[in-house]
Amino acid sequence: MDILWLDQNDVRSILELSAVMEAVEKAFEQHGKKKVQMPPKSYLYFDKHNGDLRTMPAYLEEQDVAGVKIVNVHPDNRAKGLPSVMALVVLNSTETGQPLAVMDGTHLTDLRTGAAGGVAAKYLARKDSHVVGIVGAGNQAKTQLMALSLVFDIHQVKVYDISTDRAEGFRGDMMQKIGAEIIVASSVEEVCGCDILVTVTPVREPVVRSEWIRPGTHINAIGADAAGKEELDPMLLTRAKVVVDDIVQASHSGEVNVPLSDGVITSGGIWAEIGEVIAGIKVGREDESEITVFDSTGLAIQDIATATIVYTAAKERGLGRSLSMF
Ligand SMILES: NC(=O)c1ccc[n+]([C@@H]2O[C@H](COP(=O)([O-])OP(=O)(O)OC[C@H]3O[C@@H](n4cnc5c(N)ncnc54)[C@H](O)[C@@H]3O)[C@@H](O)[C@H]2O)c1
Repeated sequence: MDILWLDQNDVRSILELSAVMEAVEKAFEQHGKKKVQMPPKSYLYFDKHNGDLRTMPAYLEEQDVAGVKIVNVHPDNRAKGLPSVMALVVLNSTETGQPLAVMDGTHLTDLRTGAAGGVAAKYLARKDSHVVGIVGAGNQAKTQLMALSLVFDIHQVKVYDISTDRAEGFRGDMMQKIGAEIIVASSVEEVCGCDILVTVTPVREPVVRSEWIRPGTHINAIGADAAGKEELDPMLLTRAKVVVDDIVQASHSGEVNVPLSDGVITSGGIWAEIGEVIAGIKVGREDESEITVFDSTGLAIQDIATATIVYTAAKERGLGRSLSMF
């Protein structure tokens, strides 16, 4: 029995962000229509190493594709020359259970996370959004901005990171890619004067204050993806229409997890899952002054939908290396 091994070069040569956005949008829609199986992520916490490891299984019933991602988050990895987030995806045959492919999931994670932000903003942000604010200029920030640039006509980007070098590096990398003015800001407050705010840091205490956010802003809250993490002042959630990617997962590990357990908000304060908005079951933005928040924890269906693009194209193009299992 053979398994196809696809390394990061193979994955990079296949995946285009626009195709990943399409796949993620469809996967969210299927989730909204309850046509997926996706138990919540399970976590191992390596507290003494400031990191964790997650397993994320999913089955997209209409496409009949299934698999599991294994992914870590170790915020101190950069000093060791490694990305904070690294992943592996295994795709299985739904007919026999046979493992079909094992692939690098690191680049795939960056793209599918950016795609989720771009898709959510398409449904929740004002159409005339031109100014993007970014808090945290790491790996995920790049694909967040690239995905937004495929949906909106971005004129200006303001970026803040506790490391000015990182913010400067981000500016250098992204300026040519998206063709907009990029300003390195000196505070989070400065960044908050925008149409779409992206928070994408590993912080465990809020860094964005409610009073800094003006009416009409859309926020993609990406960084909080484990219990105890939060980036936004919980009072902001009481002023906003809050849309999560998955209610069970978000309640455990998303931006809403701490405000829910502290009783600042209740589950009734969560408007919808993004798939319900995409499927037309719930409305998205209703007026120009609404503040909207997309709470992304990252769903296994995003990974399996994206990995399926990679596997299908790799088979067509003869990419990857065949490994023998028995
Ligand atoms: N929602 C999802 O699907 C999803 C997917 C992947 C990663 N994540 C989460 O996103 C976060 C970022 O991941 P990454 O891969 O970009 O990590 P990264 O280490 O590459 O980047 C994080 C950046 O945040 C900056 N930062 C830290 N504290 C800050 C602060 N107080 N203010 C401003 N900037 C600050 C760091 O200097 C760094 O540049 C992590 O918490 C990760 O768990 C979420």
